Parts: sequence; C-alpha cells; structure tokens
Amino acid sequence: MQERISPATRISGEICLPGDKSISHRYAMLAAIAEGESRIHNYSTGADCHSTLGCVRSLGIAVHEQGSDVTICGQGLDGLKPPAGVLDAGNSGSTMRMLSGILAAQPFTSRMVGDESLSRRPMGRIIKPLSEMGASISAREGGFPPLEIRGAKLRPIDYTLPVASAQVKSCVLFAALYAGGTTVVREPVRSRDHTEIALRELGAGIRVERRVITVEGRPRLTGRELFVPSDISSAAFFLVAALLVPGSELVLRGVGLNPTRSTLLDVLASMGASIRILDVEERNGELVGKILVKSSDMRGGVIEKETTAGLIDEIPVLAILGAASREGLLVRDAGELRVKETDRIATVTENLKRMGIRCEGTPDGMRIPGRQRFRAAGLDSFGDHRIAMAFSIAALLADGVCEIRGADAASVSFPEFFGILRQVAA
Ligand code: S3P
Repeated sequence: MQERISPATRISGEICLPGDKSISHRYAMLAAIAEGESRIHNYSTGADCHSTLGCVRSLGIAVHEQGSDVTICGQGLDGLKPPAGVLDAGNSGSTMRMLSGILAAQPFTSRMVGDESLSRRPMGRIIKPLSEMGASISAREGGFPPLEIRGAKLRPIDYTLPVASAQVKSCVLFAALYAGGTTVVREPVRSRDHTEIALRELGAGIRVERRVITVEGRPRLTGRELFVPSDISSAAFFLVAALLVPGSELVLRGVGLNPTRSTLLDVLASMGASIRILDVEERNGELVGKILVKSSDMRGGVIEKETTAGLIDEIPVLAILGAASREGLLVRDAGELRVKETDRIATVTENLKRMGIRCEGTPDGMRIPGRQRFRAAGLDSFGDHRIAMAFSIAALLADGVCEIRGADAASVSFPEFFGILRQVAA
C-alpha cells in the first residue's frame, strides 16, 4: 500500500492514542499464566500484540476481544496446553523473545516461527540464558528463527545481560517464575521496566535495586483489571511533527510516562522543546499523563550511552528532527538499531538521502547536520512500521507531495496512524 502525504501547515488538536505495545504484550502473557480472569483495557491495536494473543490462544487460553478491551482467562503457571501447530509471532520480536521464557518451562515442545524480517533477527541472546536454566532450544544456524523449544524443569540463574535489551530481560524474568529458587538478572544499563512493574502488580516476589532484579520462583500470580496507557513511542511521531511544523499546538491524553520510556521527553526538552506534562497519575504501577506540545526552535544535539537505550525506538523520528534542527544530530552507541525490524541505520539514512538530506551512517549510529530542507521524494518503509511512520512525519515538512511505499507496515504497532495524522494535519 502507498500513502501520499502533503506538506502540513499546522499540527493541532487533542488526541488519545492506542495502548502501549510493550505493556500490552506483557499483560497478555502474564494474564495467561495468572490465576483467574484479567480484563485488559486499551490493549494495543497493532498486529504485533495480536500475534501475542494468537499464541496465547494456541496455548489453550480463552481470550475474548471487544474493541480494545481484552479478557484473558488465566489458568495459572501450569495451565498452558501443548499447541496443536506452530506458534506464529509474525513480525514481533517481543512475542518471540518474551514468550520463549514461558515456553522454556513447559512440559511440552513448542515451535515458534516469524515473518521474513523476524526470521533474520538474533535469538542467540535468549537461547543462551534459557539453556543455562535447563531448556533445550534449537534455531536456524546463527541463532535465527524458527525456534524449537523443548521445555524443562528450570533452575534459577544469576545472569548478566550482555546487551541492553528489555525483551531479553523479560524473557529471563518470565522463565524465573518457573525456576525452583531465586533468579538474579543484572542489566548493563537500565531498560524499560514494564515487566518488573507488571509482575509486582500481579503478586510475584520481585526486588529491584539499581540494575539488579531478583525474582522468586513459583509465585501465585492473580488475574486482575489492567489499564494500558497510550504508547509514548507512537506519541513520538506526533510530538516531533508538532515541534517542527510552525504554529502547531497539540495535546496527547493518557500517555504512558514510565521514566524508563520518557527519556524522549527529557531529550526533547534539553533540545529546546516546549513540552508540558499535566494530570499525572499512577495506574497499575505505571505513570500516565497528558502532554501539551507546541512548535519550537529545536537545537539538536548528541544521543549516546544510556540515553540511546532509553529511546532506541524513537531514533528514526529523531533523525528527522535532527536534520531540521539548528545543530543537527549525532547518534552513538546505537548498534542495536541494526538488528531491529530493519537495519534502521541503513533504512533511515537511505530515506533521508532520497529527500536530499546530507547524512552519514556509522557502525553504531548516524551523523546528520542541521538546518536542512526536505525535498519531496518517493520513500519506502522497507516493511518496518517505525520507518513508515517516521518518514510520514518527514513528508509533512517536504516541499511537495511524498509517496511512501509499504506504508501499511505502520499497522504492526499503530493501525490508526494515518487516520490520526490526517486529523491533526488538516
Ligand atoms: C521492547 C524492547 C526493545 C524495543 C522493542 C520493544 C520491549 O527491544 O526496541 O520495540 O517491549 O521490551 P530490545 O529489548 O531488543 O532492546
């Protein structure tokens, strides 16, 4: 599917975006192994989180959907059934990596497959700790999907993550629920902590001290009512659009403001963004609030070290902000971008160059000089949802109509994206 996007003269309105993808995955998986019913409100509408629901159903768990409300009838830690066929994670790295932690502890063998993009993503990072815990996992040569997971009685481990990855951390924490004893996970830098919060919320024994997480095995998890905040990574596209299109003013309601995800807001503020946060409250242990953003003269700057891990999914859209900013953007320590749904260093710089933007990809980041103008061009999502959405925002700034090939990739996390974009950019 192609989308044609015209330049915008103003971004305005008040919007409420769909539920957070990261939190939705975790609630669905944990609700399946909790005891009793969980009602999840504002569940992500994206295809990725529906891949998780599909897998949960294939494991014998009843799931009822009514709009974005999802009810899951949890059967407890030992209530999953052997799936009749393969489990399909689609495009979703989160589904494959996190669910593997639960499957590793089951008294049956599961096979999990993914689409072409997921089949190129590294799984060695979860195979290693799960094997140390006693599971046996085979993958395609090089540690790529599909996976065959032979479950076992797991033993607890003390594991230091070699990469900053919340998916890998969550995979080990999920497996730890089944281990006979205390598991310790150590992070090199702090990554999103939705799993830790959700586990506490459902009754697990979990302690977090700085970057060390300790979980007790065999807890009794209890199903409950859960609210998913709007996805701050989806909000990022509209924040950047409103900051860059002159005369804009936008309100985003009910956005997740978990400090391990809101690095984006701190970085934007440090670059000169006019952003106000209002009406902050806590729901199921997660912070939620309203964001008011106005167009601003953005300075640009450097993204590196632990800041990179805190906004890894937002770098494609920040690259666009960088080119329009006064001083440009330098991104370092972001080698992980190369193993996302696409190699995002390659796909971002390719699209930027098509728009006449000078930029340079480096092994672990990119360098984009500031004060540049976007030329209208034919762009490509390369099948990556965040590339489709980031370059729709770039198109708003171009000197003519842009076409984005494969724009439907946006539905992986945010099917409503183009509808909302038209509404605010009217
Ligand atoms: C996610 C963690 C990040 C992120 C992904 C979602 C999560 O991946 O890029 O979109 O929900 O835990 P990594 O764990 O590979 O860094």
